[in-house]
Amino acid sequence: MTARERVAGTVANYVDERTGAAKWMKKNLTKVFPDHWSFLLGEIVLYSFIILLLSGTFLTFWYDPSQREVIYDGSYVPLQDLHMSAAYASTLHISFEIRGGMLMRQIHHWAALIFMAGMVVHLMRVYFTGAFRKPREFNWIIGVGLLTLGIVEGFLGYSLPDDLLSGTGIRIAEAIIQALPVVGSYLAFFAFGGAFPGEAFIPRIFTVHVLLLPGIFLALITVHLMLVWYQKHTQWPGPGRTEKNVVGYPLMPAYMAKAGGFFFIVFGVTAFLGAVASINPIWLYGPYNPGQISAGSQPDWYMGWLDGLVRMSPPLESYIFGYTIPWNILIPGLIVPGILFTGLALYPFIESWITGDKREHHLLDRPRNVPNRTALGVMSLTFMLVALINGGNDIIATTFHLGINQVMWFSRIGIIILPPIAFVVTKRICLSLQRADRDLVLHGRETGRLLMLPHGEFVEVHEPISPELAWKLTAHEQAPALSLEDVDARGVRRAGGLKNKLRKRISQANAESIAKPTANDLKEIEHH
Ligand code: HEM
Repeated sequence: MTARERVAGTVANYVDERTGAAKWMKKNLTKVFPDHWSFLLGEIVLYSFIILLLSGTFLTFWYDPSQREVIYDGSYVPLQDLHMSAAYASTLHISFEIRGGMLMRQIHHWAALIFMAGMVVHLMRVYFTGAFRKPREFNWIIGVGLLTLGIVEGFLGYSLPDDLLSGTGIRIAEAIIQALPVVGSYLAFFAFGGAFPGEAFIPRIFTVHVLLLPGIFLALITVHLMLVWYQKHTQWPGPGRTEKNVVGYPLMPAYMAKAGGFFFIVFGVTAFLGAVASINPIWLYGPYNPGQISAGSQPDWYMGWLDGLVRMSPPLESYIFGYTIPWNILIPGLIVPGILFTGLALYPFIESWITGDKREHHLLDRPRNVPNRTALGVMSLTFMLVALINGGNDIIATTFHLGINQVMWFSRIGIIILPPIAFVVTKRICLSLQRADRDLVLHGRETGRLLMLPHGEFVEVHEPISPELAWKLTAHEQAPALSLEDVDARGVRRAGGLKNKLRKRISQANAESIAKPTANDLKEIEHH
């Protein structure tokens, strides 16, 4: 035993005698995880969260969360002698006078954008592969909570500098709060500590941004990862992989090394972006003034869809019992997002209601093999994309020399007709891909080699595919639609007739698929 090993052994013994950690570590560090690039998406989110904590802590050393009025006398000449809030002045100070301040601000902002983008792509991977099914529904709901909090956290973050752009965003948030019937104006007064903008809002959102939400994030991420640990990670189907085993590498050393390296890649990319790509140049926007607004105001991308929905809403208002109900804000700002996020959170339960499937699933689905789910996902993304496009209607109009109303009418009509079209097209593509898989299994791979038969006919030579690929292409289940008869076995009409009819209809549409080849089909082909 070398001296180094002896020292390591002594330290490990010392810790183990006091904590009893060795048994636990041995069990958990050898835990096996399946491998696939798409499982790295959650890690990107985790690492950008760590980068956010570190860079954000740096910023708190100099940021002054105060709406007290000051006169700017820093080094950025165009703003000198201007009246502004201490929050804005301190953000300029971090940008221009603190060594590395600008870099840290930009790293923090880029990390936030990557965090949100990573989260959305991670969600898409979980959704399109069916990783949310039993027993992971609870983790899916935690995920939806994290996504919602991420949007709020990001919004509060870019509101802190109190520049003209962020103040405009806060003004929109105030309008959305005020749109709530009856209680709206009271809630807005409560949030702002009086009339807008007041002096209380920035200090309050600072506490929420740096203390409350990161605390909730830490707790939720911990539970999220503990559940991944406890329930085990899903895996792609393949030879030797079943619902009861996990095929992959042990955490130590394979994943420890990979994860460590991957953290530094994510950190490197974020630092590179922070160093070379300007983001949120608040000195160009100027300090917030409720009487001004700059042209081309754009929120961060994850808020763009919400802004787009509000922008496309027609001016609808009702006056009931002396109260104004501003539907033009209420519907796009609260009702539609509320429905979308509730539907998202409940999706695992909705799908299991449609399929009647209450079993556990640890093997992932190929998106093409579940056409309805995939089509619904693409439909929702199309909805979001049209809303996002309209969030930039002014920029699109000026860039492409269009009228702003042209972009808005495209979005108003597009948001209604494009999502269903996306659904139908995606479903057809999935079914075509299933057909292609079936042909591949039955007839093998096209080689491009043409053969002339003795009687002069040309045929293309097909090569049989490997048994592994054939397994992968046929491993999925093709469950039949639910057979929900209107009357039960004794001829008695079932309760909830309309609900059952609806469930039956959806279940039939859901079960539509191209029959995968059976062993008999293969035998028949071999026979020919
Ligand atoms: C702060 C945000 C988040 C972090 C740090 C995070 C992190 C992770 C990590 C590291 C994994 C394991 C590796 C992987 O499968 O990618 C994972 C799995 C999972 N995540 Fe997230 N996630 C976040 C948000 C979300 C969201 C928004 C959803 C969906 C709404 C979600 C749902 C899930 C589910 C269901 C699993 C289990 C997947 C499986 O076993 O295949 N997560 N998450």
